[in-house]
Amino acid sequence: MPIISSPQDFNVEDLYVDLRSVVGSPLYLKCEGFNFAGSVKLKAACEMVEAAERDGILTPGSILVESSSGNLGVALSIVAADKGYHFLCVTDPRCNPASQRLMRALGAEVRIISAQDANGGFLETRIQYVRTLCESDSRYVWLNQYANQNNWMAHYRGTAPAIDKQFPDLEVLFVGAGTTGTLMGCARYFKEQSRPITIVAIDAVGSVTFGGIPERRMVPGLGTSSRPDLVDESFVDDVVHVPEVDTIRTVHQLATRGFLFGGSTGTVVSGATKWLAERYLGEEPCAVAIAPDLGERYLDSIYEESWLREHFGNIIPDLNIPS
Ligand SMILES: Cc1ncc(COP(=O)(O)O)c(C=O)c1O
Repeated sequence: MPIISSPQDFNVEDLYVDLRSVVGSPLYLKCEGFNFAGSVKLKAACEMVEAAERDGILTPGSILVESSSGNLGVALSIVAADKGYHFLCVTDPRCNPASQRLMRALGAEVRIISAQDANGGFLETRIQYVRTLCESDSRYVWLNQYANQNNWMAHYRGTAPAIDKQFPDLEVLFVGAGTTGTLMGCARYFKEQSRPITIVAIDAVGSVTFGGIPERRMVPGLGTSSRPDLVDESFVDDVVHVPEVDTIRTVHQLATRGFLFGGSTGTVVSGATKWLAERYLGEEPCAVAIAPDLGERYLDSIYEESWLREHFGNIIPDLNIPS
């Protein structure tokens, strides 16, 4: 029976969904949404905050500030509340209203930056805002999830060994790429052991992380409009770019079986299924994919008919949404 005093001390690390009957591929989905932050980002938040405390960067009276599209913001709101820090989340209009409400309920301050960067995204303008803030007042501490080595370290020390323990014969690992913290931590762990494990990064079409052409993206979580400093392709064997329409189709397919996951899980499962069908047709490799969060946060977007009609009107008839 787990008994905890701090919300970040609880995390389900050993839950997998066997997706064979849902998507027709041999694929185990590691569920990272069962903690008080509801996402994989709780691990990165804890690791980065604890390292900043150890290094003497974060001290009583510091104000934590971070640029986040939602989940890291919620995770940092929890850690900051537990440790007594004030937290300011700098985000953009694509951040889910639910995540914004969660952060405010946890005592965080949320600022929405609406100016787009040169790639049509918001990342660079958000980061510029944070930089200006830190220059103006020394109490602000920016953990910078896009460049902080403790972001990937959280997965090198936690997520990857947990997968290794349950799947000692792992052959393929599919990891979605946002900041690439999860991807780089897992990839480094398995590549350092020189085992024949194929690491496949899953990204959204329109993301520039692996050198793509920037395009409009509506689903938060995966993809960037500015290449993250953490990314190192030498640890990655293959990259799959998934169109957002496939993300939407896949989350709805999973929901028809009672599994309500977030958008990035739809992207990862869609990319993994396609990759397995191309490379391992008729074979049974030991394959795992990581599901970063659950679906409740996306009820106003990818699970909302009016939102889907506005942004993906042409695929509505495929989705079988009851009216
Ligand atoms: C829902 C969701 N999926 C995927 C990711 C990507 O994880 P990472 O930043 O470790 O690449 C994030 C990151 O915020 C996320 O919130």
